[in-house]
Amino acid sequence: MSTAPNFDEKINRIGTHSLKWDMLESFYGMKPEESLSMWVADMDFKPPQSVNDALQASIDHGIHGYFGDESEHHQAIINWMQTRHQWAVEADWISTVHGLVNGTAMCVQAFTQPNEGVILFTPVYHAFAKIIKANNREVIESPLEIRDGRYEMNLQKLASELKGHEKMMILCSPHNPGGRVWSVEELKQVAEFCQIHNLTLVSDEIHHDLVYPPAKHTVMANAAPEIIPQLVMLTATTKTFNIAGGLSGNVIVQDSALRERFKQTHLASGTSANRYGVLMATAAYQGGAEWLDQLIDYLDGNRRLLDEGVRDIAGLESMPMEATYLAWVNFEKTGLSTQEVIQRVEKQAAIATNYGAMFGQGGEGYLRFNFACQCEVVEQAVERLRRVFS
Ligand SMILES: Cc1ncc(COP(=O)(O)O)c(C=O)c1O
Repeated sequence: MSTAPNFDEKINRIGTHSLKWDMLESFYGMKPEESLSMWVADMDFKPPQSVNDALQASIDHGIHGYFGDESEHHQAIINWMQTRHQWAVEADWISTVHGLVNGTAMCVQAFTQPNEGVILFTPVYHAFAKIIKANNREVIESPLEIRDGRYEMNLQKLASELKGHEKMMILCSPHNPGGRVWSVEELKQVAEFCQIHNLTLVSDEIHHDLVYPPAKHTVMANAAPEIIPQLVMLTATTKTFNIAGGLSGNVIVQDSALRERFKQTHLASGTSANRYGVLMATAAYQGGAEWLDQLIDYLDGNRRLLDEGVRDIAGLESMPMEATYLAWVNFEKTGLSTQEVIQRVEKQAAIATNYGAMFGQGGEGYLRFNFACQCEVVEQAVERLRRVFS
């Protein structure tokens, strides 16, 4: 049965083993009851009804054994990619992993050797660098440049700095943080760069369903089919439908030789699909399309609230976003030190955010605000920021 989503519904997540809410005290020294939790990227919304129905059916059945037969899951992915992204995927290309951080780690292990370099366009999702370093590979940062208020890559500069040991590039598409939707032209240039420099290209497209019209995302495989022999696509339902706790993701590799290399590492990891992650992902793709359209409308409203509110505060600048629910706010023009900014945001405004510096070069001076919450909370956040920065 489908029920219209109510994104205004307040749901208390405190005491539910929620990373976002129940770790506020230990990570930030903040009391969850008094705070606005706007850090880690999950949403304070229920997922599509189809997801909870699928879980409920499994609970009602009452047996929680090993998961088998991924054909329905694969078909749901194939249908979604065809209808939402005009991308023709085949079931054999898909490996189900325990989330995309896990998928990225296995790519690093499969396609690079210790001490080799992995290129990132920074500032970027912090787990990439963490995983590269933990696998004893070198992080090669290619700082994004701000032109006309938005991030752009400088591939020429990157080419001039290569040392020859770089074997992989991880592209975040759309980009987190900053919410850039890369143009087809930019994607083609990235693909060409990877061809020239013989790099495996990992395109993390976890945010590709969270795009605000008129911006339009193009999957890398469609933008530059010529890179397919070197291309690994990462996709997931987890951000889109707020089911990140299910830790599932897809590593989609069209080229059979490249895929075999990934599958070998996947096999060596000893992991296989998690029943609940797959049940949720399948149900989300099967029954979540309308919910997602309504979510985008709601998030778009929050995006405007936050952007307009923040722009009215002297010294604060929010980067215009085309995708994601993660606002990227620059505090440098306040003239305050990062420590002072954080002190005001956390101690005086009681808002938990992600610190810009953790995203790599160029992130210093920024805080990332997750606005996937009730619009009332976004209004409160703006009000609190206004109070402590005016
Ligand atoms: C670009 C990107 N990749 C991966 C993830 C996390 O993926 P998962 O929860 O599937 O490990 C995030 C989370 O915010 C992200 O922004």
